[in-house]
Order: sequence, then structure tokens, then C-alpha cells
Amino acid sequence: MMTRKLPGKAERYFTTGISMITSQGPHGSNVMAAEWVMQISYNPILIAAFIHKGSQTLKNIEKTKEFGVNVASEKQTSQVSVAGGYSGSEIDKMQIKNLFNIIKSKKINAPSISGCTINAECILVKKEKIGDHVMLVGKVVRMQHDESQSPLIYHRNRYFQIGPAIEPQREEILVDKETFEFFSNLAQKRFVLKCIGITVKSKNKILVIKQPNSSIQTIPLCIPSPGKNHVRHLERFLKNIKLDLKLDSEPIMKRLVLKYEKNFQRINMILYNGKIKSEKEHSLKSVSLDPILSIL
Ligand SMILES: Cc1cc2nc3c(=O)[nH]c(=O)nc-3n(C[C@H](O)[C@H](O)[C@H](O)COP(=O)(O)O)c2cc1C
Repeated sequence: MMTRKLPGKAERYFTTGISMITSQGPHGSNVMAAEWVMQISYNPILIAAFIHKGSQTLKNIEKTKEFGVNVASEKQTSQVSVAGGYSGSEIDKMQIKNLFNIIKSKKINAPSISGCTINAECILVKKEKIGDHVMLVGKVVRMQHDESQSPLIYHRNRYFQIGPAIEPQREEILVDKETFEFFSNLAQKRFVLKCIGITVKSKNKILVIKQPNSSIQTIPLCIPSPGKNHVRHLERFLKNIKLDLKLDSEPIMKRLVLKYEKNFQRINMILYNGKIKSEKEHSLKSVSLDPILSIL
């Protein structure tokens, strides 16, 4: 099938949520729809909104230095369309009785809107013109979320609901108790065990190393510290175990989930192909491949 090219329109293909930005001004309270809104810091919690210069909302926030971010739920398409389709300079949107269910905010004067997934009350901490919009960064002084609501998704001028979660793309391997415990102990309760390994194929055999305290045979395997260079860590590891290997520069990624009875452990393995530099120094054992080795 041919894909129709829309020159210069690639930017229309972003997917976002929609927030309703509430503000308080000389003519009362106001609400506008904004898709360019996101959290940009955990501590403090900061939210950035990118607002065009012609909006009543920007004028209000410049005066009051505060605003509400009300993240729309899938039931609020009418509210969003009106908040985004009319300006407060044209009509008092908040007065449309059958549309917005307005609630008083706790920490700011701008109101909040009920039925949203998130209501955040923000104090303006930074304002900067960026391109043809103005970035407003708000520090969240109060925030709540409603678990019973589902967020509204916006894509190519249309509204969508969140679909079912995508099933994880991991190879499932049934392993024995010993293998399972070996890897889950290494994981130390982490959701995903991240490790680097090497597959060494030589004369149709896989080189395996016996872990000192375990009868499990495995490929040479090490766990790098977060943020440290993986290849350098691997080279040091090989030096320590006195294995002289030439590694392929491009690894492959194996995303596995090991299963034993009702337990499972996720593993991300980055695997390098290694060639032994001097065959004589290593006695290669032929091993009965356990289920993990057989898929590598
Ligand atoms: C779905 C949707 C998303 C929008 N996103 C933004 C946005 O991120 N930034 C912006 O400046 N305007 C955005 N707009 C346009 C404003 O909501 C619109 O100009 C509004 O009339 C401004 O209202 P005000 O003048 O009362 O502040 C969006 C409109 C819609 C319908």
C-alpha cells in the first residue's frame, strides 16, 4: 500500500493528551484547551504549558501568576472543543451551565474542573517566549487524580480512548527451580534483571562457565552498575575471569521472561558474540544446553 505524503505536515502526527487550562482574569475565570502541556520535573513537580500569544488565558496568567491544569477525561470532548474553539474574549465559556462542572480550587483563585483525570493547581515560576508560543512553567502546589476517569487522547484533530495495554514482547522460557532461583537472586527483586553476556561458539560448542557457588552452567554473564559503560564493564569482567576473547562490536538484545511454576522473572540480556583468541588455553566443555542457552 502506498503511503500518501503530506509535505510539511509531519508535525500533525504527534499524539498527545488534552488539558483544560483554567485562569482568573479581570473579566472572571476562563478555560482554554491545550495539548502542549506536560510534567517536566518530579521534585518540585513542574508543569510546562505552551500557550499562544493571542489567548485570553495568557493575559490572565501574566497578571495573576497562577493557573490550573485539568487533564481531560474521555468523557469531556464537548468541554475540550468549546474551551479550544472559543476565546474568553468572545464569550464567557465558564458560564455555559450545561458544559463545565466548576469546582473551587484549594490553593489558587483560578477554578478547577471536575470529571478530569488530574487537577493540578500551579503557581507560575517561569515565562519564556519560545517560537510562536509562550512557555509557562508552573510549580504544582496541589494535585489530585481521579482513578475512575480515563484520559482523553488527541491525534490528527480527533479524540481517542486508550486502548488495551500492549502485551510485553518477551520470549517466555520455562526453566527449572535452580535456574529460576539463580536469576531471581541476581535480580534482587528488581522488576527487570539487566545483564550482559557473551556467547562463545567454537567448534560448534558453547563455552560455559560454572558459577562458583552453583551447579548452574551459564554463559559468561555480568551485571553492570547503572550508568556505567557496559562494554568497559564487560572487558574488565573478562579480564578478571581470565578469558581472552575478541568480542563482536554489535550486540544483540534478548528480552526474556523466565517462568517457574507461578513465578516469573524478566531479564534483559545484551549478548555479544565472542571469539576465543587462543583456543589452546581453554578447554571447551560440551554441555547439555539448558533452556536458556538453547535460545541464544
Ligand atoms: C484540542 C485543542 C488543543 C489545543 N492546544 C493548544 C495549545 O497547546 N496551545 C495553545 O496555545 N492553544 C491551543 N489550542 C487553542 C486554544 O485552546 C484556543 O485558541 C482558545 O480559544 C484560547 O482560549 P482563550 O483565548 O479563552 O484563552 C487548542 C485547541 C484545541 C481544540
